[in-house]
Amino acid sequence: MRLFVAAELPGKLLDALAETSAVLREQICGRYVAPDSFHVTLAFLGEVPGSRVASAVAAIEEACLGQGPIALTLGPLGSFGRGQRSTLWQGFSRGVDELSSLAGDVRECLGDAGFAYDSALFVPHVTLMRAADLKGLQLPSPLIESGLVRSIALLSSDLSGERPRYEVLHRVALEGNGMEELEGSPVQAEDVPTVDYALLAEQLRAIGEGESLLQPVLANASALINEAMPDVSWVGFYVLDVSGELVLGPFQGKVACMRIAWGRGVCGTAAKTDETQLVPNVHEFPGHIACDSASNSEVVVPIHSRGSVWGVLDIDSTSLARFTPADAYGLELVVAALEELLVVLR
Ligand code: SME
Repeated sequence: MRLFVAAELPGKLLDALAETSAVLREQICGRYVAPDSFHVTLAFLGEVPGSRVASAVAAIEEACLGQGPIALTLGPLGSFGRGQRSTLWQGFSRGVDELSSLAGDVRECLGDAGFAYDSALFVPHVTLMRAADLKGLQLPSPLIESGLVRSIALLSSDLSGERPRYEVLHRVALEGNGMEELEGSPVQAEDVPTVDYALLAEQLRAIGEGESLLQPVLANASALINEAMPDVSWVGFYVLDVSGELVLGPFQGKVACMRIAWGRGVCGTAAKTDETQLVPNVHEFPGHIACDSASNSEVVVPIHSRGSVWGVLDIDSTSLARFTPADAYGLELVVAALEELLVVLR
């Protein structure tokens, strides 16, 4: 049987991909992937005897140990190949590194179990259609949608019919909290207060349900995070203003600076680089803006809307090195939930 391992996509992303696929279908003919078959291939195994399925399952189970859900945001459309061999795909603007690292783990575990896999460079994407001449095609603007990958699957594909048919042979839920990654790092996992970030993301979605205004949702989001995270002294939002500065939004904590220049301090750096900033000692961070002199460590996560940075979530602590990579990763899940809400909030 022909096997591959893929990340399964949440319904919202599947719907957005189906919409994009429908727009493309109006412009060009080709072999379109059926919307219920959209996925992100992590490893392609090719022909494998049925007797080896159980060891492939064991390998992907091992690769997913400790792996939590992965926050994805749809990104640009692109194409591989030429003419009848071309493939049109949708990429991601968030989650690329996490998917790449998971694909690396999956491939490594499969390799250790004796499987040969397609070792081409991994570019996380969802194939929308194949076999069309794309010359002159104006790619539509991508829909910006975010969601969580909560499972990966071992699938078989049957290419004998008109459309490929996929069957899930085994599914692995991504339920870890990322803490295993901390093993061997200076921070001991047992020292780190555990926060259920996936639950926090769910609670944030529930808070946003039925509300159309941004301010109450951000206000309660800051309260929710503040309550859930031990040992934090400030939790809040800075939102990009027409002036190009970050302006103070709803928060919990002491009086804070109201405007931060793009690129300044930890918040401005997170916004400018579009990368989460994990700062174990703020006094060593060049240009750190000390709103509260008691603050010693900080984590800042960029928030996106319509494909670009919209603001940041800033969390401070009076403890040194309070935040771990697991916190940063978990907070990105929470921010992904907020980004889903931002699409409809005003
Ligand atoms: N320390 C931040 C400024 C914001 S306050 O911590 C609330 C920074 O350097 O961006």
